[in-house]
Amino acid sequence: MKLELVQSKASDLDVDAVVVLEWEGLPRPEFEKPLAAFYSSGEIKGKRLEFTLLHGLEGYKARRILIAGAGKREKFDPAALRQLAGAAVRRLDGKGISALAFVLEDGANAPEHVTAAVEGALLGAWEPDYLKTDKEEKNKPISSVTIAVPSQNATPSLEKALEKGRIIAEAANLSRDIAVEPPNLLTPLILADRARRMSEACGLSFEVLDQDRMRQLGMGALLGVAQGSAAPPALIVMRYTPEHATSTDHLGLVGKGVTFDTGGISIKPSEGMDAMKYDMAGGAAVIGAMRAIALLKPPVTVTGIVPAVENMPGSRAQRPGDIVTSFSGKTIEVLNTDAEGRLILADAITYAKQLGCTHLVDVATLTGAIVVALGHTSSGVFSNDDHLLARWMTASREAGEKMWHMPLDDEYRDQLKTVYADIQNIGTRKGGACTAAMFLKEFAGDTPWVHVDVAGTAWLDDAKPFLAKGPAGVPLGSLVNLALNWL
Ligand code: BES
Ligand code: ZN
Ligand code: ZN
Repeated sequence: MKLELVQSKASDLDVDAVVVLEWEGLPRPEFEKPLAAFYSSGEIKGKRLEFTLLHGLEGYKARRILIAGAGKREKFDPAALRQLAGAAVRRLDGKGISALAFVLEDGANAPEHVTAAVEGALLGAWEPDYLKTDKEEKNKPISSVTIAVPSQNATPSLEKALEKGRIIAEAANLSRDIAVEPPNLLTPLILADRARRMSEACGLSFEVLDQDRMRQLGMGALLGVAQGSAAPPALIVMRYTPEHATSTDHLGLVGKGVTFDTGGISIKPSEGMDAMKYDMAGGAAVIGAMRAIALLKPPVTVTGIVPAVENMPGSRAQRPGDIVTSFSGKTIEVLNTDAEGRLILADAITYAKQLGCTHLVDVATLTGAIVVALGHTSSGVFSNDDHLLARWMTASREAGEKMWHMPLDDEYRDQLKTVYADIQNIGTRKGGACTAAMFLKEFAGDTPWVHVDVAGTAWLDDAKPFLAKGPAGVPLGSLVNLALNWL
């Protein structure tokens, strides 16, 4: 998609459609006369995500004007603009529009607004239809988006903001491209290949540990999950080294990469099992985030690690009751083979620490319990370090990705006690997201660590006005902002 920043009035933009903002309770003076009937009938109120499409409005070069309700002016922030831009693009889909312009006037054209508008447009245009062969049914993406600001406002900082929005949204769409691939086509080795191609294209150093290497290292927790599948596992490692690091900090991003989760021998019910193709969404977010980090070049060392496995109940699958020795040396009693995410993450977290990571964030579709707790609105956040937690919450707020801080009290550890091994991999039914996080904490140890459970937020069961159904790209924006804000 072509992206451009211009200084222009709405009326001078020669494109297929111009999107202008309409604040609630503040009718635009230039529309009050020509659109009087729209206002008096209550068709234009300026409510959030209310759209009115007009053709051939006098005095405008553009063929169409889309009046986009922006809600109350005092409540309008970059996150609201991101959604509005996405919804506008989706609202215009199928109308034969190829060139589109957004007019951002005062109050909506700070650098963060420009970034958000670009992100919203690119994210909104993405569709999960890459395997449809009927061209007629596919959506017809807009080919150019222009951001128009009043003349005095176009500055190099806005150009940079536009570029940042493009990089983050393209990275999120790459992560969605990967997450949407069905599990027969996206095996652990193919996932590793996707990460390799991305790394080579943007100059990250790249490495995959294969099954033999993981055996040598003693990654028994990860290998135990993988052994029930004919598809071999992979531990994907992507490294970004800044030219001038401002500290000796080393950020590790770890993403759960279960390409399909049947539950293993503790098999899941068949109803809805197809959803478990998105059990690698955390891994896909880390791969996408590493791309954006490689291009935006924050001054901190970042390593992305994705343990990739398929959880199947094959004849060599691990059994409930098996005891495995993890890479850390701790023994784990596997009482439920469906609690596999924490097993592969345990070894990946230990590996990240061995590579020298001083701060860790893991992202995982880890538990059904977090969906019960928070629904599909917020991701659950757990941490052993208040300072890193605060940084994470700030980064996520800027990204417009909702996060909720969940508890990690020592009491949850009691549920993981077993006489047969150092730890068991499940607790009771109650507080399942917290015991899962507690299990991971055991492996993070003293290293500052944030765990993000995205089981409820990584995938949309239904489309939103501003986003197609399917993978949402969450929490890629937070991961990237965390690295960009690092000092
Ligand atoms: N991948 C699932 C968690 C999940 C559930 C993700 C719903 C997305 C939507 C995870 O591996 C799992 O199966 N967790 C179990 C843990 C239980 C056995 C302790 C769960 O949440 O039921
Ligand atoms: Zn599972
Ligand atoms: Zn899983």
